[in-house]
Amino acid sequence: MKKLENKVAVITGANSGIGLATAKLYLQEGAKVVVSGRRQEALDEVAKELEGDFITVKADVSKPEDNKHLIQEATNKYGKIDVLFLNAGIAPPTPTTDITVDHYTEIFDINVKGPIIAAKEALPHINDGGTILFTNSIVHQKGFEGYGIYSASKGALRAYQRVLTSEVKSRGIRVNAIAPGPIETPIYGKMGLSEDVIEEMGKSFAEQVPLGRFGTSEEIAKSALFLASEDASYINGVELEVDGGLSQI
Ligand SMILES: NC(=O)c1ccc[n+]([C@@H]2O[C@H](COP(=O)([O-])OP(=O)(O)OC[C@H]3O[C@@H](n4cnc5c(N)ncnc54)[C@H](OP(=O)(O)O)[C@@H]3O)[C@@H](O)[C@H]2O)c1
Repeated sequence: MKKLENKVAVITGANSGIGLATAKLYLQEGAKVVVSGRRQEALDEVAKELEGDFITVKADVSKPEDNKHLIQEATNKYGKIDVLFLNAGIAPPTPTTDITVDHYTEIFDINVKGPIIAAKEALPHINDGGTILFTNSIVHQKGFEGYGIYSASKGALRAYQRVLTSEVKSRGIRVNAIAPGPIETPIYGKMGLSEDVIEEMGKSFAEQVPLGRFGTSEEIAKSALFLASEDASYINGVELEVDGGLSQI
């Protein structure tokens, strides 16, 4: 028996990295998947490699009207939603001395406002007993230099998830989050850093991880499958660190 047979899953940031690996795994496990991203060309590319029952929907999570559109498209096509995976995010670093209002606004609009508004839009359409899953990060548990706004955004999201867990208790909806450590995805190339700096940063992160390496998107996708499936039926309100032990030392 497949773990998500006939379940409807909506995934944001699904054209790349963790979201894409999860879309592939959910499809393999029998889900109908709404694959969402902010760039049509990227969605068209991934549509060529995905197999199964899916649609793509272009939606910029920082725009409230796009979140509404995403949920409308999902429900028009598949009816009710079982799994809402709010994964889209950005992580550009900036030391506090260089923070600008634009930097702050961009990160908070995408990493905090986006998933909160998407959850609000989706709530009436999520089946009782469904699941809302977020991608956080271990950064808000640590103190990585230069990641002040990014860490604050994921910490804010974590605080919101505790409230959401209470708010949906009468409907049996489970709210969980994954906190990845350093995972090899395209996100590092999107941080506005030179290749040398990215390589140095990568080495330093890997050295700090007790398992001594970056994780893979597929390793996060397996956790996203576990938390969305009946295997995690009594797991609710948690933030699961999938980080090779980095948050624990
Ligand atoms: N990789 C890591 O080491 C790591 C560690 C901890 C947490 N995370 C978190 O994991 C999540 C996924 O990141 P990833 O590593 O898989 O990076 P990724 O490959 O860059 O994927 C991020 C996805 O989010 C999308 N996105 C960004 N802004 C968006 C917006 N405004 N509207 C809609 N989609 C948007 C990206 O679209 P584009 O392709 O158009 O940019 C991309 O599809 C993020 O929330 C990130 O903070 C990652």
